Amino acid sequence: MSNILVTGGAGFIGAHICEALVRAGLRPVIYDNLTNSSSAVIERLERLAGLRPLFIHADIRDARQLDTAFAHTTFAAVIHLAALKAVGDSVAQPLQYYDVNVAGTLALLAAMRRANVRTLVFSSSATVYGEAATVPIREDFPRRPANPYGRTKVAAEDILTDLAHAEPGWRIALLRYFNPIGAHESGLIGEDPRGVPGNLLPYIAQVAVGNRNELNVFGTDYPTRDGTGVRDYIHVMDLAEGHVAALEHLATTGRFIAANLGTGYGLSVLEVVHAFERASNRHIPLRFVARRQGDVAECYADPAFANRLLGWKAERDIDRMCADAWRWQSLNPLGRSEELTKGIPNF
Ligand code: NAD
Ligand code: WQD
Repeated sequence: MSNILVTGGAGFIGAHICEALVRAGLRPVIYDNLTNSSSAVIERLERLAGLRPLFIHADIRDARQLDTAFAHTTFAAVIHLAALKAVGDSVAQPLQYYDVNVAGTLALLAAMRRANVRTLVFSSSATVYGEAATVPIREDFPRRPANPYGRTKVAAEDILTDLAHAEPGWRIALLRYFNPIGAHESGLIGEDPRGVPGNLLPYIAQVAVGNRNELNVFGTDYPTRDGTGVRDYIHVMDLAEGHVAALEHLATTGRFIAANLGTGYGLSVLEVVHAFERASNRHIPLRFVARRQGDVAECYADPAFANRLLGWKAERDIDRMCADAWRWQSLNPLGRSEELTKGIPNF
């Protein structure tokens, strides 16, 4: 069974990737400093996948700890998710974002090179495209990120692109995620943001469960079907399975790719709210407010390249995304504040 190092593996997307890796017959090893996650995820993954992932509590900027990790285990590949991801924080603390997301990536690459591990799947983001001139967005569209977070992703993509050209031994996949939502269908792992959620789905889920009073709908005057912003929401399990497909591609023919992971269709804020109301059988009170600064009207992927090259396609629809997010939220109403220990269902 091959080992895969998953940096940021205790986080929202990383935990789901670990579950998908085990299902694919691979052994995830989580490397995470828990700045935005909880080690309770390890036990949950063990219950879910029947395999307790090895957990290394360490920082990706720490060369010594990286070397120790690579010395103890032979890795077939690395999936690099560890990063800071809050757009607003990145405006307020750009140095911290460049340090973790760019310097952290450099430290990881240097350690991989020392250990002679040269296969990497990197978590990039649709945010690299900024305000695209047209939708759907293809991989060859210009990258024009609108905030420091997006610029850290572009910087890391550029480093990886240059590395792949300079040293042909590397096999690298840049995966640009659109809007990952939902949770594993067990309700054991899911998204658990700190403080007030910045993203739409966790906010809706917290309103539905009664932790917040109403959802602020940011902008009703966009040139879209109903005036609210349109995004490409993708089930986190589809996204996770896209990583397994990318690893398989790199293990066979792939050398360097940049691929969109999205469904290819956009949904408005109101369409998502209504889907969540159906899934939860709860009413979501709304307050219509001004546009949020920096938001674009419409953003959705052309996923044809990933569909063709990786033999992968997002399959789960918005009703499934909301049903799974609701199961996770209602089984874990307080999230990390109760250390994810209560309400664990038998699965
Ligand atoms: P997350 O915050 O849940 O997961 C990131 C993990 O990285 C956390 O567990 C955190 O503790 C860890 N981490 C942060 N800094 C670290 C460091 N210095 N050393 C070691 N570990 C560190 O976020 P997520 O939503 O799971 O995102 C995972 C990746 O996907 C990130 O790279 C993010 O930029 C990217 N991404 C996320 C989205 C999204 O909407 N969630 C969209 C596109 C791309
Ligand atoms: C979705 C829609 C909002 C909250 C962000 C990052 C991006 C990527 C994914 C990491 C928009 C509206 C939201 C709310 C609302 N992350 N909304 N009320 O902005 O598409 O992307 O997360 O790479 O980089 O920018 O996602 O979930 O914040 O917003 O009306 O309380 O919901 O205006 O139309 P976004 P989001």
